[in-house]
Amino acid sequence: MSQHDDKRRKLLGRLNRQLAYTAPLLALVAGGAVLQASAGDDAAVADVTSPSEASLMLASNHAEGATEAQGEAEGEAQGEAQGEAEAEGEAEGKAEGEAEGGASAAVARPEGYSPAYSEAGDNPREMLARGEALYYDTSLSSNGLACASCHGSDGQDMGYNPTFEQPFPHRVAMAANQFGMSDVHADEMVQICMVSPMAAEPLAWGSEALTSLAAYMVEVQKRVAGEPHDL
Ligand code: HEC
Repeated sequence: MSQHDDKRRKLLGRLNRQLAYTAPLLALVAGGAVLQASAGDDAAVADVTSPSEASLMLASNHAEGATEAQGEAEGEAQGEAQGEAEAEGEAEGKAEGEAEGGASAAVARPEGYSPAYSEAGDNPREMLARGEALYYDTSLSSNGLACASCHGSDGQDMGYNPTFEQPFPHRVAMAANQFGMSDVHADEMVQICMVSPMAAEPLAWGSEALTSLAAYMVEVQKRVAGEPHDL
């Protein structure tokens, strides 16, 4: 007995027992043409395609088709539900983005703003003295901290990343990560530390406090970079 005959008998046996195994039936339907082609005029082949077997195949195919249709329907429903969830996610993302945009608008220089300090240095002594005083002022924050709490006192600079060795404006990780700003000026960095670690409102643009703190930080930056400074 050839392998083909053996295989076919087993498949036919399953059909006759009307076992609705969709996977094997599909295999039989798919393999039918091959069986026919290789088995030639063998009478058994006729059995496979006899009306009763054919209708059985159709019936199970139909059942399979129905399952597929249901599967598709479920798939679509799921797809839609997921689609909706994604749409919601996008909406939330957008809302967050706008909220962040608002936050960065508060810490980024307003359009056309020109600061009253020089980022190159050479700022008035009184401005630097005022900045230094504010640097130690815990009343600027809502959490009892002063700039000096994190960045050190008496010239012991600390809490800075190596980015601080570059003159302003430059890239700062906190500014990029929390506010989406690629480069920051000294006054913008002051505002970021006001809003984030100091948990306070940003200082008013053009205010004496912001101007003098920024001017002071310009000199601190030079000190950290090991350059001549006015402190
Ligand atoms: C709770 C701690 C904390 C407080 C308080 C704080 N900062 Fe910062 N500040 C940081 C951290 C952390 C960084 C480092 C950010 C980075 O590099 O990503 C930083 C960075 C800076 C930088 C340098 C960033 C750079 O590389 O150019 C400046 C300038 C600065 N802060 C100014 C201030 C000022 C002014 C105040 C007070 C108004 C202040 N900070 C208060 C935590 C603090």
